[in-house]
Amino acid sequence: MSASTTYQHKGVTTVKRIILLASVISFAATLAASADSKDTWAASCARCHGADGKGQTTMGRLLGAKDYTDPAVQAALTDADATKAIKEGFTTKDGKTAMKPAQNLSDSDIQGLVAYLRTFKK
Ligand code: HEC
Repeated sequence: MSASTTYQHKGVTTVKRIILLASVISFAATLAASADSKDTWAASCARCHGADGKGQTTMGRLLGAKDYTDPAVQAALTDADATKAIKEGFTTKDGKTAMKPAQNLSDSDIQGLVAYLRTFKK
């Protein structure tokens, strides 16, 4: 009788530990994803779009990068279009290459960048 009580007690503790461990891992993964997006933005996107997303860099002004802090700009940009532009590059209406396709980015990296881009909205 007492043996089975001990066993059950251990079982509950193990389940609790697993749940705790799983939530710690997923929290760490969320942190890692947002840190990566910020780093990728700084390394690959900021020279045109600016670290602040305003597009006020020399390259950004030259190529006509939009101000992503502007709610109207954010509203006009769908997640699907943003994802496509990052994946395939972006050509302006007059046929100029504004942005080349991203290199070495996974779908989840791109998803993270779209989410990061949304954080610029004022
Ligand atoms: C060589 C300069 C340059 C670089 C580097 C660059 N972009 Fe762009 N990007 C532009 C320009 C110019 C546009 C067109 C105007 C606009 O929407 O800001 C654009 C457009 C976009 C759009 C909107 C597309 C649409 O459908 O309106 C997204 C989203 C975007 N860029 C994300 C990124 C991300 C993320 C990176 C980094 C992986 C990046 N860009 C790197 C210049 C650049």
